Amino acid sequence: MTDKIVVLDYGSQYNQLIVRRIRDLGVYAELVHPTEFDYKDIKEIKGIVLSGGPNSVYDDGAPTLDQRLLELKIPILGICYGMQLIAHTLGGKVVGHQKKEYGLTHIRVNHDNHLTDGLDQAFDVWMSHGDLVHTLPKGFISLASSQTTPNAMMMHVSLPIYGIQFHAEVRNTVNGTEILDHFITKVCKADKTWTMPHFIEQKTKEIKDLVKDGHVICALSGGVDSSVVAALLNHILKDQFTPIFVDHGLLRKDEAEEVDQTFRNEFKMNLITVNAKKRFLDLLKGVSDPETKRKIIGTEFIRVFEEEVKNFKDAKYLAQGTLYTDVIESGTKTAKTIKSHHNVGGLPKDMKLILIEPLNTLFKDEVRALGLLLGLPNAIVSRQPFPGPGLAIRILGDVTEDKIRMVQDSDQILREEIKSHGLDKSIWQYFTVLTPLKTVGVMGDNRTYDHVLVLRAVTSIDGMTADFAKIPYEVLQKISNRITNEVRGINRVVYDITSKPPGTIEWE
Ligand code: XMP
Repeated sequence: MTDKIVVLDYGSQYNQLIVRRIRDLGVYAELVHPTEFDYKDIKEIKGIVLSGGPNSVYDDGAPTLDQRLLELKIPILGICYGMQLIAHTLGGKVVGHQKKEYGLTHIRVNHDNHLTDGLDQAFDVWMSHGDLVHTLPKGFISLASSQTTPNAMMMHVSLPIYGIQFHAEVRNTVNGTEILDHFITKVCKADKTWTMPHFIEQKTKEIKDLVKDGHVICALSGGVDSSVVAALLNHILKDQFTPIFVDHGLLRKDEAEEVDQTFRNEFKMNLITVNAKKRFLDLLKGVSDPETKRKIIGTEFIRVFEEEVKNFKDAKYLAQGTLYTDVIESGTKTAKTIKSHHNVGGLPKDMKLILIEPLNTLFKDEVRALGLLLGLPNAIVSRQPFPGPGLAIRILGDVTEDKIRMVQDSDQILREEIKSHGLDKSIWQYFTVLTPLKTVGVMGDNRTYDHVLVLRAVTSIDGMTADFAKIPYEVLQKISNRITNEVRGINRVVYDITSKPPGTIEWE
C-alpha cells in the first residue's frame, strides 16, 4: 500500500502545483474535488490539503468544507481559501480586507510548530488573497503574522490541523517546499515511497493481474506519452503487446520514419505501421474550421485503428497514454473545455476493448523520468509536446500536401536553429504556423505574393500557462532568412508575442 496525500481542489490556479510538490518530495498525492471525497476509502490517506480558491467563504455557492473531514483525525493543511474555510467552518471569523494582499510578503513566526521547525523565523511568502482569518476558531493558536495579516499561519492545539494563508507550493515562497515537507513527514508521518522503480513494480503487478494471458494493443504516435506507454507495456508484457502506429501524414518532417525505426529496430517491438496519409488528406480536403479538422482527424484515427484491431482477434485490451493532467483537465468540475483534445475519451462506446491507462496518475515530468528508466532515448523522452491532430492545426485554413510541406520544412529549420543556438532546453515548445494570408514581397528582381508564416515559441511548465520565449533577434533573423530562402511559398515570417492566457499555445 502506498501512502497518499489528498489535495482537495477548491479551484486555485496553483492546485496542481501542490500535488506536484508533494510528489517531488516522495509521497503520492492526488487532486480530488471536495464533493467527490470518498469517506469509505481512507485507509491509505495520510493527510489532506485544502487548496486555495478564487472564492470568499461568504460568496453565494462558495465551496464548503464537510465537517466530517475534520473529525477523521487525518492531518489537514488548509492553504489560503482552505485555511479560511477551516476557520469559518469551526466558528472563527473571516473578514474581507480593504487591501488585497498579493505578491511577496514578509512574515514572522511567533510560535514553535512542526511546519517551520528548524527554519528561519522570518521569511518572504507568496500571498494572494482578499479575505483573511480575523478571529481564530476555538482551539486554534496563531503561529505567524505579517504586517496586514495577523494570522498568517494557525494550528489546532491538540488536533493535527494547520492553516497557512500563503501559498507554500509557489516557488517564490521561501521555505515553501520545506513547509510542505514538514507537513507530510512530521505531521502526516507519510512514507516517502513514491519513486519510479516503485511505480514500475506496482504497474507490473497491476497489469499482469488484469491482463493474465490476454493481448494488449496501443496506438503509438511517437509522442512522449504513447512512447512511454509502449516501452512500459513492452517491458511488462513482451509478446503479449503490439503497438500500432497510424501515420496520418501530419507529423513533423521525417518523424514517422524515426518512430518506425526506433520501436521496430531498436526496441524490437511487434510494431504495426499503417500508412494512412492519403485517407486523412482526402477527408481534410477543403475543410477550414479548426474544430471540424480536429473531429475529422480524431474520428478517422479511430476508424483506421479499429480496422487494424480487427486483425487481432485475441486483443482484449487497449492501452492509452492519458496523463494525469488530461484526467484533471477533462474531468474536474472546475475545468472548462477550451479545445477538444483528441487523445482523451474519444473512443467509440462499441469498441469492445478494455481500456488501460497506465500513466493516468503521472505528470509529464514523471512520464519522462519513467521513459528514461525504461531505456527510451532522450530524443524521444524530451520531445516537445505535439498535438494529436498534428500539423493540420498548424495550417490555418484548408490542408493541402503543399502546405504540409511548408510547415514541415519551416518547422525543421526552426528546430535546427533553436538547437544549434542552445535554446532547446529553455524553450518549452516551438513550431511554425502557416497562415492563409498572402503578402507582397520581393525576391531578386521579382515581385512575390506568398504566405505569411508564424514562429511560435513559448516557455512554460505544463502548458497550462505560457509566455512567449525571448529568442535573441539574431537567432530570429537567421531563422527568418533561412525560411524565406529555403521554403518555397513563404515570403514573410512573423513572431508571435502572445502569452497564454489570453492566447493558447497552438493557433487552432
Ligand atoms: P493550447 O493550444 O491549448 O495547448 O494552449 C496546450 C498544449 O496542448 C497541446 N495540444 C494538444 N495535444 N491533442 C494533444 O495531444 C490535441 O488536440 C492538442 N491541442 C493542443 C499543445 O501543443 C500544447 O502543448
